Amino acid sequence: MQHQSNTHTSVNPIPDFDLSKHNTLALPSKAEYFCRYKSISELLNLLAYANKEKLNIKILGGGSNMIVQPEVKGLVIQSAMTDVVKLSENDDSVIYAVDAGLTWHDWVLKSIKFCAYGLENLALIPGTVGASPVQNIGAYGVEVCQAIEEVRGIQISTGQWMSFSREQCDFSYRDSIFKKQFKNDFLITQVIFKLSKVFRPQTSYAPLKQMAEQFLSTTNVDANENAKSLSAQQVADWVINVRNSKLPDPQIIPNAGSFFTNPIIEKPQVDELLKQFPTMPVYPVANSTGKLVKVAAGWLIDQCGWKGKSLGLAKMHDQQALVLTLKPGASQQDLLSIQQAVQADVMNKFGIQLRPEPQPFY
Ligand code: EPU
Repeated sequence: MQHQSNTHTSVNPIPDFDLSKHNTLALPSKAEYFCRYKSISELLNLLAYANKEKLNIKILGGGSNMIVQPEVKGLVIQSAMTDVVKLSENDDSVIYAVDAGLTWHDWVLKSIKFCAYGLENLALIPGTVGASPVQNIGAYGVEVCQAIEEVRGIQISTGQWMSFSREQCDFSYRDSIFKKQFKNDFLITQVIFKLSKVFRPQTSYAPLKQMAEQFLSTTNVDANENAKSLSAQQVADWVINVRNSKLPDPQIIPNAGSFFTNPIIEKPQVDELLKQFPTMPVYPVANSTGKLVKVAAGWLIDQCGWKGKSLGLAKMHDQQALVLTLKPGASQQDLLSIQQAVQADVMNKFGIQLRPEPQPFY
């Protein structure tokens, strides 16, 4: 059964829509209704339709950071809008408005082609531009919030257009206002990025540093010119290589990237643990004045013997213990069983509670 709205542009939500190919964990799932929108007027009609039919709106991005449940009630909508518009520029920087439906990696590659820099370390992160601010995606020493100027969209409960400045987004490690006060109540339509016209390589992350040093030692340039001789595409290619060597391709092995966030714990607890486990990798937490420390969840899981270990149809990845992978036919229960077993072992050995990074979608 297909529905028609009586407004100007028709909307055709598909009932009983199979979401298994729309989530990177390939979990079996059916949406009550599903529809993609190609324009703002189609989106507004979908929202009006959902309101009229009393269907909850559920927003799907690239499906790379969610644990979809077997049944998703309501109307699942997905942006098919992918425009990139230059808004302004000056001598140092350039501002682009990017539609939420554009694939994140495509936007990274485009920005490099435009000679607009700051996103190259975030190459190959799965998902869409619209999802990027929600969990403040980050990798290799860079977080997307550093490049975000503004986030625009519609509050679902009120239908109001809203805009959030970077400060209002309340970004922190894998977190933002869109996971707190506005959780499930804000539909991001566009993200505004401020990028630099000057490329400043960010190669502090150990594997990138190694590659940069190796590259620069083989290029015949003056030491002062070293940084200049690195290109943004070069850094993006290294990131792509590192990711490909550690992280499984979700098209081949279902996964959602890091399955747990790196836990943030109080300094005294970390100091105690470091006495017992001196090689435990720890990182400072910005704006915590040294009181909080981030611990590498992958290392904790690895130490508990879970790297490459399976439980039922789920497995912690051989190259990176933080990545939970699923085998064909795996269910939500397989995922939950291994999640809980890993959490219990890490709690027993280190007294640390691991929290999943992907959000439930139901
Ligand atoms: N480690 C192990 N064993 C493992 C995995 C990691 O000992 O199986 C150790 C590593 O040797 C290293 C430390 O743990 O000393 C950290 O590992 P890594 O550098 O691989 O980074 P991560 O903290 O595990 C985070 C992000 C990744 C991002 C990388 C690189 C989170 C939850 N994950 O992983 O993001 O790519 O840093 O910046 O913050 C994602 O969010 O989906 C994701 C892939």
